[in-house]
Amino acid sequence: MPDASAAKKTLPDAQTVTTVRHWTDSLFSFRVSRPASLRFRSGEFVMIGLPGDNGKPILRAYSIASPNWDDELEFYSIKVPDGPLTSRLQHIRPGDEIIMRPKPVGTLVLDALLPGRRLWFLATGTGIAPFASLMRDPETFERYDQVVMMHTCRTAEELTYGRELVENLAHDPLLGELYGADFAKRLLYYPTTTREESPLMGRITDNLVSGKVNADLNLPPISAETDRAMICGSLAFNQDVKKVLEDFGLREGANSEPREFVVEKAFVGDGI
Ligand code: FAD
Ligand code: A2P
Repeated sequence: MPDASAAKKTLPDAQTVTTVRHWTDSLFSFRVSRPASLRFRSGEFVMIGLPGDNGKPILRAYSIASPNWDDELEFYSIKVPDGPLTSRLQHIRPGDEIIMRPKPVGTLVLDALLPGRRLWFLATGTGIAPFASLMRDPETFERYDQVVMMHTCRTAEELTYGRELVENLAHDPLLGELYGADFAKRLLYYPTTTREESPLMGRITDNLVSGKVNADLNLPPISAETDRAMICGSLAFNQDVKKVLEDFGLREGANSEPREFVVEKAFVGDGI
């Protein structure tokens, strides 16, 4: 009989799972070891996966949810019931190995935006993952006076990962020490639900267009002079938010051409 532990060590680009946390029936997060040689910019994604039955790995794009100074890598994941990867990935436990291709890429990076005063993170569902990285990176707060994290999900339970992360940031060893009591004014959190009653409700698009979020947070209207944004959600969400920001006069940028906002899909939808 082949030795299972010996087989594990033959995985190419293997990383060891250190912690797993299940947030809802359909959402979980986990942390893995970080290869010493891996350098990435907060907000980027990598390909991760598990070996397939035919020996070919099942790999999918995943935003790195941890900041670039962290010793480990964190990921925040959906559980798609019949999903080739996540139907299995959701069962990982500490000590298991996953595959990670060490080639980080992505558009949700600070370098793809022009300097500004206020940075908006606009996410639905697991689209908060790249911002979980950027919110924990001191460079974000070195570049911008204020960061506004808008996260929308159908239910309040689905907001828990982001809510806990934001609450813990005030006590973060790095950011807490850097910004102290001022931190609550630097990071503004605006979580909303759309299909369950909660203190704040509504789609991100509606709350931007109506100006409700600005009124609630006591912020001036969005303008191309002061405001920058990063968008991460479904294709339809991204398209709709893009239109809203363009109506405010902001233009889409890229690594090669920094402008006022950048966009990345949180997943590739059915048939797209
Ligand atoms: P798949 O066959 O890949 O997907 C099946 C269907 O499930 C899709 O057609 C879609 O309708 C739906 N779906 C897939 N992913 C999601 C999702 N995240 N939210 C809602 N519906 C979804 N997924 C994460 O969970 N966390 C991440 O940080 C993440 N980052 C990504 C970054 C990029 C740039 C891209 C393109 C995708 C990212 N994804 C992320 C999606 C991820 O690559 C996989 O699609 C997901 O893990 C499901 O894999 P699967 O093989 O189980 O199912
Ligand atoms: P809604 O409940 O009004 O559809 P989903 O679970 O379908 O991926 O959606 C996640 C969250 O994103 C939901 O709160 C949903 O609101 C919202 N959403 C979905 N599509 C859009 C869109 N095109 N513009 C703005 N918000 C959207």
